[in-house]
Amino acid sequence: MITLRRDGELTVDPTTSADLLITGPDREPVALHDADGSVAAVLTALHRPATWQQVREQVPLGEGQLDLLVRRLLVAGVITLGCSDGHGDVATARFRSRLAEVRPDAETAGEQTVQLSPYALLRRLNGRAVVESARDGTVVELHRPALAAVVAGLCTPAVAATVAGLAPGGEQLLRLLAAVGMVAAPGAEAGRPPHAVWTHTRSRNGLADLRTPVGDLDEPPAEPAVDTDIALPVPDLAALRRTDPPLAEVMEARRSVRRFGGTPLTLTQLGELLHRVARVQQRLPADPADDRSYSFTLRPAPSAGAMHELDHYLTVRACQGLAPGVYRYLPDRHALAVVNRDTVPLVRLINAAYLALNRVSVPQVLISLAARGDRTTRKYGDLAYSLTLRNAGVALQSVYLCATAMGLGACAVGSGDAADFAEATGLDPAEVSAVAEIVIGSLPGEDV
Ligand SMILES: Cc1cc2nc3c(=O)[nH]c(=O)nc-3n(C[C@H](O)[C@H](O)[C@H](O)COP(=O)(O)O)c2cc1C
Repeated sequence: MITLRRDGELTVDPTTSADLLITGPDREPVALHDADGSVAAVLTALHRPATWQQVREQVPLGEGQLDLLVRRLLVAGVITLGCSDGHGDVATARFRSRLAEVRPDAETAGEQTVQLSPYALLRRLNGRAVVESARDGTVVELHRPALAAVVAGLCTPAVAATVAGLAPGGEQLLRLLAAVGMVAAPGAEAGRPPHAVWTHTRSRNGLADLRTPVGDLDEPPAEPAVDTDIALPVPDLAALRRTDPPLAEVMEARRSVRRFGGTPLTLTQLGELLHRVARVQQRLPADPADDRSYSFTLRPAPSAGAMHELDHYLTVRACQGLAPGVYRYLPDRHALAVVNRDTVPLVRLINAAYLALNRVSVPQVLISLAARGDRTTRKYGDLAYSLTLRNAGVALQSVYLCATAMGLGACAVGSGDAADFAEATGLDPAEVSAVAEIVIGSLPGEDV
């Protein structure tokens, strides 16, 4: 039987503003508005576990209103949905989204064939075994390790009674998983890959309780210069302000270019482009009066929280004035650091981009945007990856527009190979990984 329960020892105190303040050990306080006393009534009804129906009978509210209230309390984390047997608790479901699926009357009995949702993930969370819904973030905690056998048994279509028999408490667990939409009759399943759905859910307010970030946010200092660094030509911005095409023209003219000129772009052009899209324009210190502030940089492209966690790496096959190789742009000093001059990793990266751009021209220069993911995670916690991809989109468009204004061609590459990038740079992809790529080069009409 599935029951509603208070989530642990709760203290419920009325406040002066028709709110109830709910506190308890190991939990953040929750304030719930309760002008008509119905929240208090439900919590009183749940002084011991009760079925949804029993709560309906005890609390004098219309059925729809009561159901809404119970959902509100589930999502607030004040109550849970759980199941037990003669030996104690079997599993507990906790909710994170007000859109979460809750069907306490779902049936999974007997000879019915059932299967685990592709969006159910068995994993460790806060030191406990849980089955998590990638779709809405609901977490079902397994109170007995042996119940993992039931979850495994559900990976192929199975008769409910048979799979329930794989571990004590199996029948109750099956009911609970069905009540939260993680077990159903086998059938047509949505095509979106679970990892995409999970990433989305785990990075949106309203669909998940986002993890609180922690850590040092200060912009790292500029790296010390190294003998092998290559200073880049600095464009004359005053002249560019006079000669650049108007933004309206650039926006209208921008297209993805896959056919490049026989004469490659020059180091001067590469320097101008990087200066205009990626250099550090200004370094600003933390505000001593605000302990939440941190030092940061301003650059031509926006970046969430001014984290600027994306580095521009260049794989250069052909650029007049620059030897082939893999380089990293140093945005403080407008210079290039040599990363790798070997041919094999360079050819791999260039060839993958050539294939992605339909083999029209062998790319002259590939820009890979590599994220220092830890940096954004320290500020944004669970939001970080989604913000990094948005930052990458912003950076790609900056390159597109600047290349267009400069009379160069550019084309984003959708299928970058993070392993090729890791091998070429020697970077650990767990720390710094390429998340977006764009090819740039001279236009065919510019050949001399
Ligand atoms: C994120 C992203 C990835 C892309 N990946 C590729 C790619 O791998 N190969 C390619 O030929 N074009 C790629 N493109 C270019 C698109 O095909 C192009 O933007 C689209 O066809 C519209 O054409 P336009 O850019 O000329 O307006 C990509 C564009 C973006 C924004």
